[in-house]
This record gives sequence, C-alpha cells and structure tokens, in this order.
Amino acid sequence: MSSKKIYTGLIEHYRDRLPVSESTQIISLGEGNTPLIKLHNIPSLLDKDVDIYVKYEGLNPTCSFKDRGMTMAVTKAVENGAKAIICASTGNTSASAAAYAARAGITAFIVIPDGKIAQGKLAQAMIEGAIILQVKGNFDDGMRLVKEVADEAPVTIVNSINPFRLQGQKTAAFEIIEQLGRAPDFHCLPVGNAGNITAHWLGYSEYACADSSLFTNACTSKIGNLSNEQIAKTRPKMLGYQASGAAPFIQGDMVDKPETIATAIRIGYPQSWDYAWTVNKESGGWFDRCSDNEILATQKMLAEKEGIFCEPASAASLAGALRDVESGKIPSNSCIVCTLTGHGLKDPDIAINQSTAPVVKVEASLTQVKSAILNNM
Ligand code: F0G
Repeated sequence: MSSKKIYTGLIEHYRDRLPVSESTQIISLGEGNTPLIKLHNIPSLLDKDVDIYVKYEGLNPTCSFKDRGMTMAVTKAVENGAKAIICASTGNTSASAAAYAARAGITAFIVIPDGKIAQGKLAQAMIEGAIILQVKGNFDDGMRLVKEVADEAPVTIVNSINPFRLQGQKTAAFEIIEQLGRAPDFHCLPVGNAGNITAHWLGYSEYACADSSLFTNACTSKIGNLSNEQIAKTRPKMLGYQASGAAPFIQGDMVDKPETIATAIRIGYPQSWDYAWTVNKESGGWFDRCSDNEILATQKMLAEKEGIFCEPASAASLAGALRDVESGKIPSNSCIVCTLTGHGLKDPDIAINQSTAPVVKVEASLTQVKSAILNNM
C-alpha cells in the first residue's frame, strides 16, 4: 500500500529549505501543519474591525511549538552521532525533547526548575522516559548549568541556542503565509527566551527572500506561488508579549527573580536577547507586557467564546493583541496572527481553578437530570 499521501512532518515537507541531505535519517512525529483558525466571536466584541487568526501550535505531537524545533535538533544530533541530548526547560521543551529522544532511541536529560512546572508537561517527560534533574533554582539557573555541563559531558544541547531549533521553528511562518495566501500585518507571540519570535522572523524573511542581519540569506528561489506584490508584503511587524513579572525586554535588562502564573515564560535571562532586538528593529514591531490577570482572562475568554484551549503563556499573545487593537496601536483593518504556543491541557490545574462553569450534582434519575437541564438553559 502506498503511503505517499500521508503527511510525514515538517522536515520532509520543507526539505529544500532545511539543512538536511538525502542521507539524513529524519526523526519525526508528524509535527507542523497546524491549523490557522480565524476567530469569529472575540473580534465581534471589539469596537475595531480587524481579522484575528490563531495558529494553534498546541496541536503538535507533544502539544507545543517546540516539536518544530525538536525534530530538527534531534535529527541533526543523531546525524552527528549523539547518544544523549540535554535541555533546561520550563516544561514544554522537556516534553518535546523526551519524546523525540524516545523516538530516536537516545537518552534525554531534562533540567527543570524545582516546582513551578505544569503537571501535564512533567507527566509527558516522565512517561517518555527522560532522566529528570530537578534543580533548586529557576529556568535561568538550569540554562546556565546546561551550558556548563555540555562542555564537560557528551550531551548535545537542544535548547533554542541550538541553531537547528530555530531552523525547524521558522517553518511556522512558511505555513502561515501559505494558509493565509499572504503574511499578516502583525504577528503576536508570547516571549520567553525569544527563540520563537526570532525563528518566525527568519521564516518570514526567507520566504520573502528579504535580507535580515539575523542570518546569511541563502534564499535563491521563493516557495509557493506568490506574486511580486504579495512577496513585498511577506514580512509582518513582530509583536512580543511578556508576563509583567518576567519582562526583561520591557525593562531593557535581565530580571533576577522572574515570577508569573504563566510558568512557560517565567524567564529572566532570555537566550536570544540580541536576535530579538534585531527582529524588533527590522520588523518595526514592539514588545509589551501583560499582567497575570490579563493572561488568565484571555485564556478563559478564548476557551469560552471560541472553544480554543491554550495554556496561560500562549494567551499572552492574544491578550497583548486585543489591548493594542483597542488602543489603536494596531490599526483597524489589520490582519493579525497570534501564535498559541501550547495546549491548555498542559496545565489543567490553572484551568480548573479559574473555571466558573457550574458542576451540578444530581442523583442518577431522569427527573433530576431533566430539571438540571431546564434550570440551566
Ligand atoms: N509559550 C510556551 C507555551 C512556551 O513553552 C515557551 C517557552 C514560550 C511561549 C516562549 O518561547 O522561549 O522561544 O520565547 N518555553 C521554554 C520551555 C522555555 O522550556 O519549554 P521562547
């Protein structure tokens, strides 16, 4: 039976745009090709007329965007003979690294902060057989240790400082252009280490065959069938939103004790600091912060009004976008894409705690079930 029609992941799909050769053994779980969903109900609550799309990266194999980078990082690690990979993580990178290491038959060492890691992410890394090192410190301490130990032990770092991670993640921008038939005017992302915002800019620039000082532009031909006019529009303004308690890009300096309910972006020392400022400058975008309350309220609104469940960190992109639309900073008639970086099931505790949906207890009788329905219509 032919399996030609089966989608086999982003490396295979964008093979000519990624640093792999014919003989590279690809480690894939079918990542990428995630839906771009147009919001209907939330924009109708706004005074302004805008199109808002969400790129639902929570629908990747381990339920976050990290899989896009991990398929590349693990593929290249295996190609270069690695037997073990290592990462520091606030949770999603570790879940992804553990899965791709399992797939490749190599060992994953995961360095996570003591506490402040969402249950779903921990569950993934544990069941996927990673060796978990819980450090008494935060993500930034873990990252420092990972860099130090990689000089002394035979392990390949698969955090986003590994350049292959950004190569894989840039494909999200390719997909968005292909799904929309153009680039959005604004692309909003939650920012922690700033690897993802950098990777998107890489992707948009490469697609447009436009120069960026982020990289040597190896682009020789455009992908897709865009007209010259469309190509001119293939780079959005990149907007990066951080949690108020972990907002080094807004403070203009590193943060020693980052705190936020959005544990995925509880980061004070972003690894892609310089890259992110380049993105900011080249795209003409901006950074801003969202409070924990704004993040949670937006997470809930997205679930209640559109049926889309993302984790708290992911909601920062939409929270920031909505505020900037209301204030006029993002003009009317704009086309906006917000990346929902991780699935809401990653962090069930937060969802349950902030849920106001009534749980009506009833006896197992028709009368009680019927009256409960009629009383709650
Ligand atoms: N959203 C989610 C759900 C994340 O897990 C992360 C990062 C980000 C946004 C920020 O992306 O770092 O590229 O700016 N999570 C990393 C981790 C740090 O360890 O899982 P970034």
